[in-house]
Amino acid sequence: MSLEICNLSITAGKELEIIGFPKADARSFSINLGHNDQNLALHFNPRFCHLGDKNIIVFNSLQCGQWGKEKKENIFPFSATNEFKLTISFTSELFKIQLPGGGCVSFPNRFAEDKFKYIKVDGDVRITGILIK
Ligand code: GAL
Repeated sequence: MSLEICNLSITAGKELEIIGFPKADARSFSINLGHNDQNLALHFNPRFCHLGDKNIIVFNSLQCGQWGKEKKENIFPFSATNEFKLTISFTSELFKIQLPGGGCVSFPNRFAEDKFKYIKVDGDVRITGILIK
Protein backbone atom coordinates (compact mmCIF):
# COMPACT_ATOMS: atom_id res chain seq x y z
CA MET A 1 0.00 0.00 0.00
CA SER A 2 1.27 3.44 -0.75
CA LEU A 3 0.26 7.06 -0.97
CA GLU A 4 0.46 8.38 -4.49
CA ILE A 5 -0.47 11.82 -5.79
CA CYS A 6 -0.17 12.49 -9.52
CA ASN A 7 -1.37 16.04 -10.03
CA LEU A 8 0.67 18.16 -7.68
CA SER A 9 2.62 21.20 -8.69
CA ILE A 10 5.83 21.40 -6.72
CA THR A 11 8.18 24.03 -8.02
CA ALA A 12 11.72 25.00 -7.10
CA GLY A 13 11.77 27.31 -4.12
CA LYS A 14 8.70 25.80 -2.49
CA GLU A 15 8.85 23.55 0.55
CA LEU A 16 7.22 20.16 0.79
CA GLU A 17 6.58 19.26 4.39
CA ILE A 18 5.80 15.65 5.28
CA ILE A 19 4.77 14.47 8.72
CA GLY A 20 4.39 10.83 9.61
CA PHE A 21 5.60 7.98 11.75
CA PRO A 22 7.34 4.69 10.96
CA LYS A 23 5.29 1.60 11.78
CA ALA A 24 6.18 -0.46 14.87
CA ASP A 25 8.08 -3.10 12.89
CA ALA A 26 9.41 -0.72 10.26
CA ARG A 27 12.13 -2.03 7.94
CA SER A 28 12.09 0.60 5.23
CA PHE A 29 10.05 3.41 3.77
CA SER A 30 10.54 5.84 0.94
CA ILE A 31 9.46 9.28 -0.16
CA ASN A 32 9.68 9.79 -3.89
CA LEU A 33 9.35 12.89 -6.02
CA GLY A 34 9.26 13.07 -9.79
CA HIS A 35 6.96 12.65 -12.78
CA ASN A 36 5.56 9.12 -12.33
CA ASP A 37 6.51 5.80 -10.76
CA GLN A 38 9.11 5.10 -13.48
CA ASN A 39 10.71 8.54 -13.34
CA LEU A 40 11.73 9.73 -9.89
CA ALA A 41 14.14 12.60 -9.42
CA LEU A 42 14.33 11.88 -5.68
CA HIS A 43 14.05 8.51 -3.96
CA PHE A 44 14.61 9.13 -0.24
CA ASN A 45 14.72 5.78 1.51
CA PRO A 46 15.36 5.41 5.25
CA ARG A 47 16.31 1.77 5.86
CA PHE A 48 15.95 0.53 9.43
CA CYS A 49 16.93 -2.97 8.40
CA HIS A 50 16.53 -3.72 4.70
CA LEU A 51 18.63 -5.32 1.93
CA GLY A 52 21.63 -5.61 4.27
CA ASP A 53 21.47 -1.94 5.31
CA LYS A 54 20.89 -0.92 8.90
CA ASN A 55 19.88 2.57 10.00
CA ILE A 56 21.00 4.49 6.95
CA ILE A 57 19.29 6.68 4.38
CA VAL A 58 19.62 5.59 0.74
CA PHE A 59 19.11 8.15 -2.04
CA ASN A 60 18.71 7.47 -5.70
CA SER A 61 16.91 8.51 -8.87
CA LEU A 62 14.95 6.37 -11.30
CA GLN A 63 14.86 7.18 -15.01
CA CYS A 64 12.67 5.16 -17.37
CA GLY A 65 12.50 2.48 -14.66
CA GLN A 66 16.30 2.25 -14.23
CA TRP A 67 17.93 3.09 -10.91
CA GLY A 68 20.92 5.43 -10.98
CA LYS A 69 23.89 5.43 -8.64
CA GLU A 70 22.94 5.22 -4.96
CA LYS A 71 24.05 7.68 -2.34
CA LYS A 72 24.06 6.56 1.31
CA GLU A 73 24.06 8.67 4.45
CA ASN A 74 24.77 7.35 7.92
CA ILE A 75 22.58 9.89 9.67
CA PHE A 76 19.34 8.24 10.87
CA PRO A 77 16.99 10.36 12.98
CA PHE A 78 14.04 7.95 12.69
CA SER A 79 12.65 5.43 15.12
CA ALA A 80 9.63 3.18 15.03
CA THR A 81 6.34 4.83 16.02
CA ASN A 82 7.95 8.24 16.68
CA GLU A 83 6.51 11.06 14.63
CA PHE A 84 8.91 12.86 12.28
CA LYS A 85 8.72 15.95 10.12
CA LEU A 86 10.72 16.28 6.90
CA THR A 87 11.01 19.39 4.78
CA ILE A 88 12.08 18.91 1.17
CA SER A 89 13.11 21.83 -1.03
CA PHE A 90 15.00 21.91 -4.29
CA THR A 91 16.61 23.85 -7.07
CA SER A 92 17.30 22.54 -10.57
CA GLU A 93 20.67 21.40 -9.15
CA LEU A 94 19.99 20.00 -5.69
CA PHE A 95 17.39 18.53 -3.34
CA LYS A 96 17.73 19.49 0.31
CA ILE A 97 15.98 17.55 3.01
CA GLN A 98 15.74 18.95 6.51
CA LEU A 99 15.59 16.05 8.92
CA PRO A 100 14.01 15.76 12.34
CA GLY A 101 16.47 16.92 14.98
CA GLY A 102 17.97 19.64 12.80
CA GLY A 103 20.18 17.71 10.34
CA CYS A 104 20.15 18.37 6.64
CA VAL A 105 21.02 16.06 3.74
CA SER A 106 21.16 16.68 0.02
CA PHE A 107 21.00 14.82 -3.26
CA PRO A 108 21.72 16.11 -6.77
CA ASN A 109 18.76 16.93 -8.98
CA ARG A 110 19.81 14.66 -11.83
CA PHE A 111 16.73 15.66 -13.84
CA ALA A 112 17.88 19.31 -13.70
CA GLU A 113 14.20 20.32 -13.69
CA ASP A 114 12.41 22.80 -11.51
CA LYS A 115 8.89 21.37 -11.47
CA PHE A 116 7.53 18.00 -10.37
CA LYS A 117 3.97 16.75 -10.15
CA TYR A 118 4.22 13.29 -8.62
CA ILE A 119 4.82 12.11 -5.08
CA LYS A 120 4.76 8.58 -3.78
CA VAL A 121 5.25 7.50 -0.19
CA ASP A 122 5.82 3.80 0.18
CA GLY A 123 6.71 1.19 2.77
CA ASP A 124 6.46 0.95 6.54
CA VAL A 125 5.16 4.39 7.35
CA ARG A 126 1.95 6.24 8.10
CA ILE A 127 1.56 9.80 6.86
CA THR A 128 -0.28 12.29 9.05
CA GLY A 129 0.34 15.45 7.04
CA ILE A 130 1.55 16.78 3.70
CA LEU A 131 1.90 20.47 3.02
CA ILE A 132 3.34 22.45 0.12
CA LYS A 133 4.22 25.99 1.08
C1 GAL B 1 16.85 -1.18 -4.64
C2 GAL B 1 15.49 -1.28 -3.96
C3 GAL B 1 14.64 -0.12 -4.38
C4 GAL B 1 15.38 1.18 -4.17
C5 GAL B 1 16.73 1.13 -4.82
C6 GAL B 1 17.52 2.42 -4.57
O1 GAL B 1 17.69 -2.21 -4.20
O2 GAL B 1 14.86 -2.47 -4.35
O3 GAL B 1 13.43 -0.12 -3.65
O4 GAL B 1 15.50 1.46 -2.80
O5 GAL B 1 17.46 0.04 -4.33
O6 GAL B 1 18.77 2.36 -5.18
